[in-house]
Amino acid sequence: MNTIKSVSDMQQWACATREAGKRIAFVPTMGFLHEGHVALMREGKGRGDYLVVSIFVNPTQFGVGEDYEDYPRDLEEDTEKVSSAGGNIIFAPSAKEMYPSGYQTFVAVEKVTQNLCGASRSTHFQGVTTVVAKLFNIVKPHVAIFGEKDYQQLVTIRQMTRDLNFDIEIIGMPTIREEDGLAMSSRNKYLSPEERKQALCLFNALNQVEKLFRGGEKNSKKLIDRAATIIRVQSAADIDYVKVCHPETIEDLEWIDDRALMALAVKIGKTRLIDNLVLKN
Ligand code: PAF
Repeated sequence: MNTIKSVSDMQQWACATREAGKRIAFVPTMGFLHEGHVALMREGKGRGDYLVVSIFVNPTQFGVGEDYEDYPRDLEEDTEKVSSAGGNIIFAPSAKEMYPSGYQTFVAVEKVTQNLCGASRSTHFQGVTTVVAKLFNIVKPHVAIFGEKDYQQLVTIRQMTRDLNFDIEIIGMPTIREEDGLAMSSRNKYLSPEERKQALCLFNALNQVEKLFRGGEKNSKKLIDRAATIIRVQSAADIDYVKVCHPETIEDLEWIDDRALMALAVKIGKTRLIDNLVLKN
């Protein structure tokens, strides 16, 4: 397995691999890899002749006062994980390599980024789509794999891929959870043991909402109230949003006719966690 740090070396490898008629599968990550990433890598491995994993903590998707500096990093451990998942290339550029001095171009997807995380993190999705567009042009994949835990991110990337005519298949993969149900996230590392216990309220809230929905409740406000009540019991929990929205447009839904996304963002202590569930009739 090779680690490539320069954009031009990565592009040369990608061009040569495509010219040789091989298929490139790509898993973009910010590193500090966990089982959720491993599941994405396994999927990628089955979908391409070569698997490229990028490890880049992207500064443009962090807002002022967010955790860019503190975001956990461990390239050595990540390299082992990519290697044992059968990865062929790690692309691990520096921030300067991706955003050299004088950099001034950004990609913004409009409507689907307005609600949920976009409402409280105003520059976040522009940072995500900018770096993913750049990575697509650098790694030149045939297929790219993303997790459904970041559901709005996945919808946004699908929209960008269609709108900008990237000839890339986008695959979404189900959220991987800890044994007790907490969605895996690199940020779980920040939780103290007590916060880790309380963090389970996100999963519990989603479970209760699903039960209520299966029992026939289609009124979003009732589902939201149930989730919020379960979360608020926890002393460390501070709700950013609890919403029911359309799974493709990400607009709020008052009533669920067919399918809906129940999405949560909750601060547990200082750690902001997200989770979601697609409700279907
Ligand atoms: O989901 C992530 O880890 C990041 O948002 C991504 C897609 C790698 C872009 O930096």
